[in-house]
Amino acid sequence: MCSSELSSSPIDDHEWQWLPQYHVAPPFGLLNDPNGFCYFAGQYWLYFQWNPADCSHQNKHWGLMTSSDLVQWRQQPFKMAPEHWYDKDGCYSGTALMQAGQLSLFYTGNVRHGEIRESYQCLVTSDDGIHYQHHGPLWRSQLAGFTGHVRDPKVFVVDGQKRMWLAAQTDTLQGGIALLIEQADGHWQLQGHYHHPINWANNQLGYMWECPDRVVLDQQTLLLCCIQGIDTGLPDYRNPDLSGYFCVNEDPSSGAISFTSDYRLLDHGFEFYAPQTTQDPVGEIYIIGWMGLPDSAVQPTQDQEGWCHQLTMARHCCWSDNWLWQRPVAATFDLFRCERSEISIVGHLSFHCAAAAYINCLVLTSNGQLVIGNDDAALVIHWDDQGHLSIDRGSLAALGDDTRRDYHSRQGKIGQLQLFLDNSSFELFINDGEAVMSGRLFAKQPLYCGRFEGQADAITIHALVQPVI
Ligand code: FRU
Repeated sequence: MCSSELSSSPIDDHEWQWLPQYHVAPPFGLLNDPNGFCYFAGQYWLYFQWNPADCSHQNKHWGLMTSSDLVQWRQQPFKMAPEHWYDKDGCYSGTALMQAGQLSLFYTGNVRHGEIRESYQCLVTSDDGIHYQHHGPLWRSQLAGFTGHVRDPKVFVVDGQKRMWLAAQTDTLQGGIALLIEQADGHWQLQGHYHHPINWANNQLGYMWECPDRVVLDQQTLLLCCIQGIDTGLPDYRNPDLSGYFCVNEDPSSGAISFTSDYRLLDHGFEFYAPQTTQDPVGEIYIIGWMGLPDSAVQPTQDQEGWCHQLTMARHCCWSDNWLWQRPVAATFDLFRCERSEISIVGHLSFHCAAAAYINCLVLTSNGQLVIGNDDAALVIHWDDQGHLSIDRGSLAALGDDTRRDYHSRQGKIGQLQLFLDNSSFELFINDGEAVMSGRLFAKQPLYCGRFEGQADAITIHALVQPVI
């Protein structure tokens, strides 16, 4: 029996702070989407949706973190507040664009008149990241044919042509769709709208698409988007709000796209949404997501510690074998010190690990499981020799009874697991970045015990050297 057990008893008397030690979380209030993720003036800039007043989805500001290595983040005093007529009910999500040394931030101003909602796509510029000029809405009219849910601009340039993807909802079907807008002669014009004929049982459009992103990896263009309100009926697609991508062919002269793949999830875990990508000066692409969902249950930190939600770690993206691979950025591994290393494990291995830890299991050849916790309250990762992996976070979640997620490996086997634990979250990288599964967990005590059952060539257990946020 492990001396420092996790308990399945109510966690409202937990004995330590759940604030993560290396994931970005708000010191107080509620955080949601990453915004304006970019490389500017020699650093990575990561704005985020933030209600600094309380843990409700109201009063959305932008906050800011900066980092030189995508791992050690420092919160900056910057706040973009909903204080104009065109964003009075929230400075909603958006993206950054760098041109001629100037930072442009595009975001959605959310305005409500009772039940009526209006959306304004707004521009803010800065030469130094300290002083910001607010230019207001890029256009004032509301787009015909769509409800007031038009938001989350992703602005990019192809061959000198500035374009924007926007998430929207059609006013007839109340269905989600992506809009392509182009700037011509100083005006923004709607070029087209797109949705994928996803072959899912009900309501094929979902009721809303959110947070589009466009990224080109090794000449393959991907359109990322979050789809709400689809009951897929598929075991690997169980979240109520999905975050994924389509492969697309893009006509560089018009920006028009055609879809060339099905919708693929970016993360197969419990909480992952509204991700943003960015490219650094040497062309490497990174992605960060919100480790939360719009429709997820209240998390216990809200009442007990006054903060809510966190972001995932930055992940390095590669395109290979017609697949998106996501791996922890290299500097992540420098955060940890190896505490235990075992080789040729057959059968059973028990261990202790800190609440902020990294566990690497290499070459798994049979059915097996990795259990973090004890019989009453544990994160249980189970796999079989056909490449089917499931995660059950059971009573550690404190978030209802929807406790399991599944992933079926495209390689038909599980060869490597890299599990990152932070005080109230985990990210599991499978097969060197083939898939990631993320989620939150709320344990009563900070020190975990664990066990590995099965066969592995090697297992290493690492502890975080020191908090970095
Ligand atoms: C996604 C989202 C965005 C919106 C923002 C508001 O989580 O709903 O569509 O811009 O959050 O906070």
